[in-house]
Amino acid sequence: MSTIKFREKKYHCQPQETVLECLLREGVEAPSSCRSGVCQTCMMRAVEGLPPTEAQQGIKDTLQAQGYFLACICKATDDMTVVLADEESQSFIPVEVVEKTRLADEIIRLRLRPEKALAYHAGQFVNLRRQDGLVRSYSLASLPQSGELLELHVRVLPEGKMSQWIEDNLVVGQQLELEGAHGNCFYTAGEKLNQPLLLIGTGTGLAPLWGILRDALAEGHSGPIHLFHGSYTVQGLYLVNDLKAIAAEHDNVTYYPCADVADEGDGVMVGRVHELALQAIPDLQGWRIFLCGHPAMVEGMKRSAFLAGASLSDIYADPFVYSSGDKN
Ligand SMILES: Cc1cc2nc3c(=O)[nH]c(=O)nc-3n(C[C@H](O)[C@H](O)[C@H](O)COP(=O)(O)OP(=O)(O)OC[C@H]3O[C@@H](n4cnc5c(N)ncnc54)[C@H](O)[C@@H]3O)c2cc1C
Ligand code: FES
Repeated sequence: MSTIKFREKKYHCQPQETVLECLLREGVEAPSSCRSGVCQTCMMRAVEGLPPTEAQQGIKDTLQAQGYFLACICKATDDMTVVLADEESQSFIPVEVVEKTRLADEIIRLRLRPEKALAYHAGQFVNLRRQDGLVRSYSLASLPQSGELLELHVRVLPEGKMSQWIEDNLVVGQQLELEGAHGNCFYTAGEKLNQPLLLIGTGTGLAPLWGILRDALAEGHSGPIHLFHGSYTVQGLYLVNDLKAIAAEHDNVTYYPCADVADEGDGVMVGRVHELALQAIPDLQGWRIFLCGHPAMVEGMKRSAFLAGASLSDIYADPFVYSSGDKN
């Protein structure tokens, strides 16, 4: 059994328990969001003792070397003295809410002005922090190079701690904080400007794709770009006119709005978005693929894309992992 020392107190991890689970069980307020090793909200640093390497997945090499790890996937094998990463690095920066508008029934667009410039690639995600410390991850829909305000698309979940609060309480002019950017789901031009791109997103999975699509075009991408956006109902689709306008302007862009449930007159493809994409493009050899949104779609399509000929190194994924149950 490993002992974790945090803020001068010692806690004993049960067998198979993660450091985060141990601290929460003991009533310690430790930050977390996805609880799956994706968002990095729970990042800590071992100032004494060594974290297992499995708990350092996705963390930059330089930070790994300094003992940073993800508490939500860390089953400690050593006794450790730990500190919260953000307490150490002060990595959160203040942002002002400049715009709050509705994109669809349950989807809100936030535009945020950061106190200092944020270095990011379109499609990466940030961790947004409320004054009481609640943190959630949101993908960036904006483009860094054009100096746009930071843009997030938030799906409002009934009783969702952050999203429902954004819907009901957050007002223009209010201050929040954010940290990042993280994730490797973004466009890089390199020498492959003519490579075909397949972009598939569900719900607010369109946020990173909206950034990635415009980024690729700004970089002069000349290969075909096919963007499939899926929602359960037609009402959940958004930026439809903007995407149609981009497709009309660029010969190489095709936009496919899709809904699980729709009528013939709705002008959308009916069915599961990733299945429709595979029917339209069954051979994915040589394609670069971006998958964003519901974790089940992302994981399922990753496998299908590989089986359809795509190279694993050409598949970029951003699953919006949600942890279930009560959490901070
Ligand atoms: C890398 C990453 C990027 C993300 N990007 C975005 C983004 O761009 N836009 C966005 O809206 N969200 C995004 N998310 C999800 C976001 O971080 C939050 O999890 C989400 O907003 C819910 O937080 P909440 O506090 O409102 O709900 P919570 O209080 O955390 O959850 C409330 C309850 O709803 C359940 N629940 C959560 N999601 C769903 C769902 N889809 N369907 C049914 N039940 C659900 C939970 O299990 C929980 O029981 C992203 C997540 C990750 C990890
Ligand atoms: S990585 Fe640990 S809570 Fe998301």
